[in-house]
Amino acid sequence: MKILYHEKITVSSVFNTIVSERKMFMKLIAAVSAEWGIGKDNKLLFSIPADMKFFRETTKGHTVIMGRKTLESFPGGNPLKNRNNIVFSKTLKPFAGITVVRSLDELMHIPEASDNDAFVIGGESIYRLLLPYIDIALITKVNASTPADSFLPDFDGLADWYLAGKSDEIIDNGYSFTFCTYRRLADSERNNIRKD
Ligand SMILES: NC(=O)c1ccc[n+]([C@@H]2O[C@H](COP(=O)([O-])OP(=O)(O)OC[C@H]3O[C@@H](n4cnc5c(N)ncnc54)[C@H](OP(=O)(O)O)[C@@H]3O)[C@@H](O)[C@H]2O)c1
Repeated sequence: MKILYHEKITVSSVFNTIVSERKMFMKLIAAVSAEWGIGKDNKLLFSIPADMKFFRETTKGHTVIMGRKTLESFPGGNPLKNRNNIVFSKTLKPFAGITVVRSLDELMHIPEASDNDAFVIGGESIYRLLLPYIDIALITKVNASTPADSFLPDFDGLADWYLAGKSDEIIDNGYSFTFCTYRRLADSERNNIRKD
């Protein structure tokens, strides 16, 4: 399957400023419904093998940051293989294969969370908590309306964010979807927009 991305080149340098000024610089990865739903009853909304493959290949070898409920939604409640699993929880006892963090402050003291290859993988509470530290969001937009009880913010309506790239439409397991890349505007970009 060939996936084509069409990135805006004009804003490719916007992150240098942000990286130098912030303690953390992360990416977000998620799959959303037409209403930006991400889950229901602590389960994903869709089973899309091509999207799971994209998730595996994109996050393999990297740090993944999640909430306790998302960890528990994995088969057997086990961490993801071949990744450095960091789990937010105030209640979970640490066990092999995961690093538990009790607060945002604790996360900030973990060096692996500060490199630019850490992925925030959900769920809703952790996406919202870490949004200020995320500069790139890889969002699989599924063209389907499904009841949900967990949501991602609507990136099309977020100030300071823009759609930087989008794949062609893909069909898999009966679902139609696109891989979208959203990026945060740099301070310099925001200033330019306000002046215009
Ligand atoms: N579509 C997707 O791409 C995607 C990806 C991931 C997850 N999901 C879905 O998202 C849903 C789960 O989202 P959720 O918001 O209910 O749960 P969650 O974010 O996965 O986990 C929530 C838990 O994280 C811990 N936590 C949150 N904020 C914290 C903080 N500031 N400090 C310390 N611990 C903190 C708490 O654990 P304790 O209670 O133990 O303290 C809290 O109960 C599920 O339906 C799942 O399938 C969807």
